[in-house]
Amino acid sequence: METATPRKVEHQQTDRGYVPVYATGVVEQPWSSYSRTDHEVWDTLFARQCEMLPGRACQEFLDGVKKFGLGDGGIPKFADINQVLAKATGWELVAVEGLLPDEVFFDHLANRRFPVSWWIRKPEQLDYLSEPDLFHDLFGHVPLLLNPVFADYMQAYGRGGMKAHAIGPEALMNLTRLYWYTVEFGLIDTREGMRIYGAGIVSSKGESIYCLDADAPNRIGFDLERVMNTRYRIDTYQQTYFVIDSFEQLFEATTPDFTPIYARLREKTPHAAADVLEDADRVFHYGSHEGFATNADT
Ligand code: PHE
Ligand code: CO
Repeated sequence: METATPRKVEHQQTDRGYVPVYATGVVEQPWSSYSRTDHEVWDTLFARQCEMLPGRACQEFLDGVKKFGLGDGGIPKFADINQVLAKATGWELVAVEGLLPDEVFFDHLANRRFPVSWWIRKPEQLDYLSEPDLFHDLFGHVPLLLNPVFADYMQAYGRGGMKAHAIGPEALMNLTRLYWYTVEFGLIDTREGMRIYGAGIVSSKGESIYCLDADAPNRIGFDLERVMNTRYRIDTYQQTYFVIDSFEQLFEATTPDFTPIYARLREKTPHAAADVLEDADRVFHYGSHEGFATNADT
C-alpha cells in the first residue's frame, strides 16, 4: 500500500544546509490516508521505546504517555489527544508538513500550539532520520505538555523566540542552543536517579541508552549562560548532556530578560560541544570522549 508522504515544496540552501522546505501552514491530520505500514511503524517504535524507557525516562514523561493512550494501537488521532491536552494545560496540537521557519514555530508555541509533523518515517528509518517526523514530534514532545511547569516553559520559549528573532541571528543561535540542550536533549536529576526528559532522546532507542550508560559523553549541571554559549552536534549522539534538578529550576532560570545575556555572549567565544570547564562546571560525569568527532559542531 502507498505510504502517505509530506508535501515538500523544494530543497533549498539555508543556514542549516541544503534542506527540504515545507509548506508552512497548518493542515488537517490526514488520518484515514495512513497505510497499514505507517501504523505498524508507529506500533513498532512505540513498543521498542516503552520497553526500554521505564527507569530511564522521567516519571512525568511516562505518565503522559499513559494518560494520552499513545499505545492503544496505530497512529493516534490528534483530535483525541487534543481533548485531553486542552483540559490539562490548554495546549493544542496542530498538524504541519515538517520543520517550520523560526518565526512560525515561535508563534505556535507562544500561543500554546505544538506543531507535529503529520507523516511518519518509513520502516527502513526506524533508527535514524535527519528530520523530525510524527513519532519524534508526538511521542517525544507531547507527553511533557501535560506537566504544567514544562507547558509554561514551552510557551515562554516561544515568546522568547520572537524577541530573540527581533534582536538578531546571534541571539537566536543562543536561544536555539538552549532548546537543543533542554527540550531536545535534556537530562533531569531525580531522587530515583538520572532520567531523560529530552524529546530527541526518548524518541531514539540508541541515544536513550547512550545518554545515561555511555562513558564517552559529559553530563554537566545545567547553567543557563553556559548552555546558551555551547555549540552542539546534529550528526552524532550528543557529546555533552546538561542536567536540570527540576522543571521549576529550568523555568525560573529562564524567566529573567535575556537581552543582557545576549549582549554578554556576543563578546564571548562559544564552547565546543565536548568542552568541560574545569573550574566552572558542576560535573556529574566527566566523559572519556572516546570516539568523538572534533570538528563540525553547530
Ligand atoms: N526570559 C527569556 C527572554 O527574556 C524568554 C525565555 C523564557 C526564553 C523561557 C526561553 C525559555 O528572552
Ligand atoms: Co524535536
